[in-house]
Amino acid sequence: MCGIVGYIGKKRNAIDTLIDGLKRLEYRGYDSAGFAVINNNKIKTIKETGKVVGLQRKLQEEWSEYKDTSINLGIAHTRWATHGEPNHDNCHPHCDNNEKFAIVHNGIIENYQALKTQLELKGCKFNSETDSEVIVHLISECFEGDLAQAVAATVKKLEGTFGIAAIALEDSNSMVVARSGSPIAIGIGNDETIVASDIAALVAYTKRVIFLDDDDLAVITADGVDIRTLNNVPVSRETTHIDWDTTDAEKGGYEHFMMKEIYEQPTAISNSIRGRLDFKLETAVLNGLNFTPIEMAQINRIIIAACGTSMHAGMVGEYYFEDLASIPTEVEQAAEFRYRNPIIEKNSLVLAISQSGETADTLAAVKEAQNKGAIVAGLCNVVGSTIARETGRGVYLHAGPEIGVASTKAFTCQTTVLLMLALKLGRNRRLSGQDGMKLIKEINNISTLVETVLEQADNIAQIAKKYAKMNNFFFIGRGYLFPAALEGALKLKEISYVHAEGYHAAELKHGPIALLEESVPVLALANDIAGKDKIIGNMQECRARKSPVIATATIGDKSIEEHSDDIIWIPECSEFVAPIVTVVALQLFSYYFAYERGCDIDQPRNLAKSVTVE
Ligand code: G6P
Repeated sequence: MCGIVGYIGKKRNAIDTLIDGLKRLEYRGYDSAGFAVINNNKIKTIKETGKVVGLQRKLQEEWSEYKDTSINLGIAHTRWATHGEPNHDNCHPHCDNNEKFAIVHNGIIENYQALKTQLELKGCKFNSETDSEVIVHLISECFEGDLAQAVAATVKKLEGTFGIAAIALEDSNSMVVARSGSPIAIGIGNDETIVASDIAALVAYTKRVIFLDDDDLAVITADGVDIRTLNNVPVSRETTHIDWDTTDAEKGGYEHFMMKEIYEQPTAISNSIRGRLDFKLETAVLNGLNFTPIEMAQINRIIIAACGTSMHAGMVGEYYFEDLASIPTEVEQAAEFRYRNPIIEKNSLVLAISQSGETADTLAAVKEAQNKGAIVAGLCNVVGSTIARETGRGVYLHAGPEIGVASTKAFTCQTTVLLMLALKLGRNRRLSGQDGMKLIKEINNISTLVETVLEQADNIAQIAKKYAKMNNFFFIGRGYLFPAALEGALKLKEISYVHAEGYHAAELKHGPIALLEESVPVLALANDIAGKDKIIGNMQECRARKSPVIATATIGDKSIEEHSDDIIWIPECSEFVAPIVTVVALQLFSYYFAYERGCDIDQPRNLAKSVTVE
């Protein structure tokens, strides 16, 4: 949450690079935005509430001639408010009372109140309600002529999480960054260095990136980076080559990132699968897991820790691992995993699933699991992200950047990868070569099936429009389609702000059925797989209460028509593939529904894509 960007170099105007970077990081928060640069021997800040376009407008109004000045150094921030409402004073960057230092911060300073009281007693004036402001006052207090030393002394006093970028008026040739718990990526260019919370802001300028570890501090200059510990001991961090393209992080003609990412799914899934199916040994190849066959055979329990959409993907994984590999599996909401003191036995595999690889609760679960001696692996999309590095073993999705706040392609790629992992674990146990091959063929066909769903977009749009005035929804499913129902409901509420609940179809009658009436539609996942007959019964129960029923049904399955008001057709597939393919239809339904209601689809209110606070 919150995105930070920093630029130092002579190649281009710092402000343009900062604004461009903020736009690319806006999915991390869009309550307010601001930047600080050194100009005419002063730290100049411009801030604005709301989105980055507002900041850009303000820049044009207040300082349109900025392009005529050579500005080589600056820091910038897009905020997701935690402490203090999104007003001008709470916008970052924050400056000290003498305006000699400026900082941007991503994370939460848990002991800020105590630090603030101490600083106020010494006469320090606070201009905001944020936790972040203490950082800049502490830097000012600790400064003895060297910004790196002042930042090191400051962060030693901080409790909580932070990614910080700081500049000092005295030194316009460097910037200092530090991290603990919140990501900092450093893009190494030619005669320029760019810092950001996420590589999305860097790939336009360089593909060479260094990721800081916790408790690293780095002095950034136009020529590169000098990384050290907080005690000034030099450390070296490897440079990663990023293969994302700039166009991957742009809309490419689509009105919204979400729609672009929905349509990218066939390609993204193919990329997740590429090189990972072994037709000869009838299994999957997931080298990043680094398991020998013996180690793999010893895994006797799997615990999946994740949040949001990733958790729903994990729930599908639970079915896969139990059905195909006979490994007892449970899915834990990551925050709950951490705080309820889970029992981890020898040979338990904890699988952390996270698109961003930065979700604070999932990261905390990883640390708790490692602490308890579990084998921990990550399933992440963002290369070099904290969870990917912390786990040290796992599988990357290779889905490309996901910018729309509502997750889409991450879900379908996560479930595809989980299916490959179940295939691998299954083949390592009782799954026959014949069944392995059958599964390989199904996995290989997922992209084509998703394309068939995308071809139904017009029909789905019509149905979404028809129901767009409704304010309450239920999504119901059974078996493999139960997690899909949860994900469908999550998508609808995330982007359209409509109350939508995902329920197991059988559970509906244990309470929620009391809410059913004409104005409460039920979206029933009634594909022709195990459980269909039972869900037809549930659909009848809903209709008997006058709820309109929209069904997903397998193409050609006429039996659903008499039990539903509208049908979204899904291509025929096995139960393993059904949740992946069906969710694509539900993504489209939510998109068109929210579109019809005029919602801000890519940046829904109150949400952020990368939730780096607990
Ligand atoms: C946020 C996002 C969701 C996402 C969840 C987990 O809530 O808005 O779309 O599913 O975080 O994120 P992760 O990056 O860990 O998958």
